[in-house]
Amino acid sequence: MLLNADDHVLVPVPNYQSAETVPLSICEVTGLPLRRVVSSPSNSEADPPEWRLDLDDLKAALRPNTKLISLNFPHNPTGMLMPHEDLQALVALCRAKGIYIFSDEVYRGVELNTAHRLPQIADIYEKGISLGVMSKAYGLPGLRLGWIASQDLELLQKVERYKHYLSICNSGPSERLSLIALKALARILERNRAILRENVALLQRLLDDFPGLVEFRPPLGGCVAFPKFIGPGGGEKFCRLLIEDSGVLLLPSSIYVSEIADTPQDHFRIGLGRDAIVKAGLTAMRRHFEKHYASFAR
Ligand SMILES: Cc1ncc(COP(=O)(O)O)c(C=O)c1O
Repeated sequence: MLLNADDHVLVPVPNYQSAETVPLSICEVTGLPLRRVVSSPSNSEADPPEWRLDLDDLKAALRPNTKLISLNFPHNPTGMLMPHEDLQALVALCRAKGIYIFSDEVYRGVELNTAHRLPQIADIYEKGISLGVMSKAYGLPGLRLGWIASQDLELLQKVERYKHYLSICNSGPSERLSLIALKALARILERNRAILRENVALLQRLLDDFPGLVEFRPPLGGCVAFPKFIGPGGGEKFCRLLIEDSGVLLLPSSIYVSEIADTPQDHFRIGLGRDAIVKAGLTAMRRHFEKHYASFAR
C-alpha cells in the first residue's frame, strides 16, 4: 500500500514480530537495536539499565530511499517509551526528509506515569500513521477491533479498500461493545493502570527478595517487561525450568530473535497486565525461587 520493493524501512529490535516481518516481505529493512543505557557507573542493582532508541543510530541507518520508520511505544517487549523531546526531534527529521512514521500505539494509555504518555503520531505529524486496538490498553482482546488514524487521506482510502477486500464490515456486537468501552475510557484505563502498578510492585518485591538473580527496571508503560536473568545457568534454562517445574510461562529472549539485528541474550518477557492470573503466577514464581535459588534469598 505504502511500500514498494525499492523502498527501505527502519524498525527497532527487539520487536513485536510483524513489525519486521511485514515490511521484510516487501522491501529492505534495517534493524535498530535498542540500547541498554546504564545511568549509574556501577550498574548497581538499585539502578539497572534502561532501554533507549538512540537517534544517532537511527540517523546513521537512514538511506536516500528510507520511506518509513516503524515505532511502537509503549514498547513490546521492553515497556520503554521514547522521551517526548526525542519524538519531536524524530518528527522534525522525518518531516524534512518526507519519511512516514508508522506508530503502533496499542499499549498507549497504560503508562505507569501518565506524564510519560506520548501523543498519537497521527495528531502531530502529517505523515504519521497511528495503530490502535481494543485488545491491549483497554484489555478487550475478544472484540477483535482496531483502527488506523492518519492525516493522509489518500493513504486511508487505500487502507479502506484493502479492508473491504479482507472483510466488508466488522462484527456489529464488537462495535457496540467497543463504543460502550470507549465511553468509559478513563475508568477502564485507570483500572488497568492500577492492575499494572500492583503487579509491577509485586514483581519488584519478589526480585528484591532474591537479589542478584534478575536485573529489572519497571516498564514505563504497556503490559509487559523484559528483565535480564543474571543467575546461574542463563535465561533460557531459567525459563525452561520455570515452566516445566512450576507451570509459569515467560518468553525467553530466543522468542525475540530477529532477522535484521542481534537481540539481547538472557532476557525474558513477562506479562503483567492481567489481574488474578499474574498474581497467581508471581506466587508460583516465588515458590520456585525458594526451591531452586534459595541461596539468593535475602
Ligand atoms: C505491539 C503489538 N502490536 C499489535 C499487536 C496485535 O494486537 P491484536 O491482538 O489486537 O491483534 C500486539 C499483540 O500482542 C502487540 O504486542
